[in-house]
Amino acid sequence: MKIYVTRRIPDAGIKLLEGHEVDVYEGSTPIPRKLLAEKVADADALIPLLSDQIDAELMEAAPKLKVIANYAVGYDNVDIDAATKRGIVVTNTPDVLTDATAELAWALLFAAARRIGEAERFTRAGRFSGWGPMLLLGQGIRGKTLGVIGAGRIGTRFALGSRGFEMKVFYYDQERNETLEQELGAKKVDISYLMHEADFVSIHLPLTQETKHLIDAHQLFRMKPTAVLINTSRGPIVDEKALVAALRAGKLAVAGLDVYEREPDISAEFFEMENVVLAPHIGSATHQTRGAMAELCAYAVLKVFGGEMPSNIVNREVWSKRR
Ligand code: GLV
Ligand code: GLV
Repeated sequence: MKIYVTRRIPDAGIKLLEGHEVDVYEGSTPIPRKLLAEKVADADALIPLLSDQIDAELMEAAPKLKVIANYAVGYDNVDIDAATKRGIVVTNTPDVLTDATAELAWALLFAAARRIGEAERFTRAGRFSGWGPMLLLGQGIRGKTLGVIGAGRIGTRFALGSRGFEMKVFYYDQERNETLEQELGAKKVDISYLMHEADFVSIHLPLTQETKHLIDAHQLFRMKPTAVLINTSRGPIVDEKALVAALRAGKLAVAGLDVYEREPDISAEFFEMENVVLAPHIGSATHQTRGAMAELCAYAVLKVFGGEMPSNIVNREVWSKRR
C-alpha cells in the first residue's frame, strides 16, 4: 500500500508502516497544494497536517484513498462530509495531546498573568536596574475565577489543573460535565455570563461553523479590564481584529495566544503590543506527545488496511456504509 505523509513526523510512526511504500514530503513549510494533489494520485492513505486543506477537490485527485489520518486532534482542515461520501475513513489524534495542550494553556496563563514575555524582553534588553516596588505588576491567580470555554478532554484537563489554586470554576459547554462539577464544584453557565465573571478565560473548543467568531467584540467587551484570555484551540474561534481592538482599549488586560485566525499570518498589531503573549501553535509540541501522535496515525492507517475500524475514527458513519 502507498502512504503519503505531508511532513516529516517522528520516526516512531514511520517505523510502524514498514513493509508499505511510505513517501514523506521533506519541505519545512506546508506542501504546495498542486504537489499534494499529484502525490495523492495513487495513495491508499494520507497523513496530513492541520495546515493542509483536505477538501473534496483534493479527494477527487485521490481515487484510491481509503484513510486520512490527520496528524492533529482538530480536523477542521478536512471536509468530513466529502470524505464520508467517498467512503474515506478520517481519524485524528485524541487523548495523546490532552496533557500537553492543557499544560500549554497553563503556561500561557501564567505568562500572561505575570507578564513573563514582557519581563523577559525587559531583562534581555539590559533594563533591569534593581528590584522595584512597581516593576511589572501582574495578576495573582489563587482564589480567582476561571472560565473554561469547551469542557471536552482538553478543557476538562485544563480546568482540573486549577485545583492547586483554589479557583472558582465556570464552564461553558453544550453538555454537563460531572467530573468538573464533582471535583471542582464547577458551574455550567452561558457564555456571556462566563465572559463577564471570569478573571481568566481559556478556550478549548473545536472549530466548526457554530464556534467561528464565538468570541467576538460583544463577548470581549464583557470582560473585566483585569481579565486574561487564553486560546490554544483554533484561531478563528476568536475574532482577531476585535481582540486587537479590545486589548488596545483595555477591555481586557492580556491575551495568551497559541493559535491565530489566518495561520501562519498573525495580526501585525500584536507585534507592537506588550499585553499579548504569542506562541507559534505549539500546544501538542512535547517529545512524548508528537511521538504518540505519529504512532496513532500509523496504527489508524494499518487498521483500515486490515479491515478493522480504528478507535480514533471521526466519521463512524463511513464504516457502516462501506461494510
Ligand atoms: C493541534 O492544534 C491539533 O489539533 O492537534
Ligand atoms: C522579593 O524578592 C522579596 O524578598 O520580597
